[in-house]
Amino acid sequence: MPQQVTRLAVVFGILILALVLARSQLVPKTFGQAGHYRAAAVTEIAAAKIHYAGHEACAACHEDIAKTRSAGRHRNVACEVCHGPAADHVAAPTDVHPSAPKQRGRCPQCHGYDSARPTGFPQIDPVTHNPVRPCISCHQPHAPETPREPEACGACHGSIARTHAVSAHALIGCTRCHETDRRHKTTPLLIRPSKPASRAFCAGCHARDAGSPKEIPRVDVTTHGERYVCWQCHYPHFPEAK
Ligand code: HEC
Ligand code: HEC
Ligand code: HEC
Ligand code: HEC
Ligand code: HEC
Ligand code: HEC
Ligand code: HEC
Ligand code: HEC
Repeated sequence: MPQQVTRLAVVFGILILALVLARSQLVPKTFGQAGHYRAAAVTEIAAAKIHYAGHEACAACHEDIAKTRSAGRHRNVACEVCHGPAADHVAAPTDVHPSAPKQRGRCPQCHGYDSARPTGFPQIDPVTHNPVRPCISCHQPHAPETPREPEACGACHGSIARTHAVSAHALIGCTRCHETDRRHKTTPLLIRPSKPASRAFCAGCHARDAGSPKEIPRVDVTTHGERYVCWQCHYPHFPEAK
């Protein structure tokens, strides 16, 4: 018999022995009893501690919050997504208190800007979106809303508002020169504010004989730039006299 055959036979012998040993020693006892898996796994998993109670459980005691949530935009965000696993709390409400995400960190995990998110999902840049203050100081976590109607004109007319704020006209409110219907703030393209239409409007404060406070600079409106409207020479949001 060639030597190689004996060597091969020895190698296979060792392999077979190792396999038999492994099967008897390493394969769990209940493997194969109920199919190609470890039968004891089922009872072990069934016996594992339950961490989540499910949002239906919360509603039993926190009825008002559950109602608020189901009427708001967070209706599909389960309680324990924010409060963490709370099965222990359900079992002993006064002894175990779930945490609440009061700081800014948690909310941007869903709302921080990410181009992969579906179009229309409300997103913000947490660095520039009202920094420092916690999100819940402005948004009710159980029924969040966005204040749809901005208060300041500068929310949309930012650059005009910034220019105006450092101008000689800073103390003259936008609406002193632009009569603005409230609805302009929600449907700006449909409802337009007024704009001063003639020299007479500016003359109301700047004419020599105007009844305005006397520190306001005066011009003789009959001769001063007479053929043009005032804002062809003076930018009304930052008037200069040079
Ligand atoms: C058996 C009634 C019961 C159930 C069910 C229950 N809670 Fe509570 N929960 C309470 C009570 C009572 C308190 C007030 C505890 C206290 O002040 O010591 C409380 C307080 C809380 C608080 C405030 C903790 C704090 O530190 O102020 C949160 C958050 C909370 N529950 C969330 C949940 C969530 C989430 C669920 C569902 C998984 C839930 N609860 C289910 C009874 C319940
Ligand atoms: C989007 C995250 C979020 C979800 C979803 C959420 N909560 Fe809260 N919850 C908070 C935050 C943040 C606070 C802390 C509010 C505060 O301190 O003003 C809070 C506070 C609470 C409190 C204690 C203060 C209070 O307002 O009475 C209870 C109780 C509570 N939540 C229960 C629930 C239950 C029940 C649900 C599900 C029906 C739920 N929460 C869903 C974020 C959430
Ligand atoms: C698990 C993800 C998740 C977390 C965490 C979460 N949200 Fe939301 N949020 C949503 C979903 C989903 C909506 C509903 C989006 C829709 O209706 O298209 C929503 C809606 C909102 C809206 C309404 C936007 C609008 O245009 O009216 C605001 C505001 C908001 N969340 C603020 C918060 C705040 C504040 C927190 C932290 C306390 C928070 N969210 C935590 C998923 C989340
Ligand atoms: C000082 C108040 C304030 C704070 C603090 C604040 N927000 Fe807002 N949030 C607003 C206002 C006002 C709007 C609506 C106008 C706008 O889009 O800027 C808004 C809008 C949103 C929207 C809706 C955006 C959209 O496109 O529909 C989301 C989501 C949101 N905020 C989440 C958050 C989160 C998350 C935090 C904390 C990291 C936070 N906000 C902190 C005032 C605030
Ligand atoms: C929600 C955003 C928004 C807010 C808030 C807002 N505007 Fe506007 N405004 C617009 C848009 C959009 C236009 C149209 C711009 C265009 O046609 O190029 C506009 C146009 C105008 C115009 C020009 C009208 C015209 O016919 O040329 C004036 C004046 C104006 N706004 C004044 C104001 C004043 C004053 C306020 C505050 C009381 C204000 N806006 C608040 C969005 C807004
Ligand atoms: C002193 C009066 C005055 C004040 C105060 C004023 N405006 Fe104007 N605004 C005008 C005049 C006049 C025009 C028309 C300019 C033109 O037709 O070229 C104008 C035009 C505009 C326009 C049209 C776009 C443009 O640039 O021509 C917008 C938008 C506007 N103003 C917004 C504002 C906002 C927002 C404020 C407050 C931050 C404000 N205005 C304050 C006088 C004023
Ligand atoms: C409500 C009164 C009022 C109206 C209306 C008004 N202004 Fe003025 N204007 C002022 C005041 C107040 C000052 C600043 C006076 C000061 O410097 O103390 C001023 C300053 C000026 C200056 C001088 C700026 C400088 O650098 O010295 C010019 C130019 C001017 N306005 C042009 C206009 C034009 C153009 C209009 C019309 C679109 C207009 N104003 C409408 C009150 C008004
Ligand atoms: C043809 C361009 C032109 C027009 C149109 C024009 N101005 Fe002037 N305005 C100037 C110039 C240039 C100055 C600075 C030199 C001066 O005082 O004559 C000035 C200066 C002013 C001053 C500052 C006066 C002072 O004493 O500091 C006021 C206020 C003023 N204009 C208001 C108006 C008003 C109101 C109108 C419209 C009725 C208007 N201007 C139309 C070019 C113009």
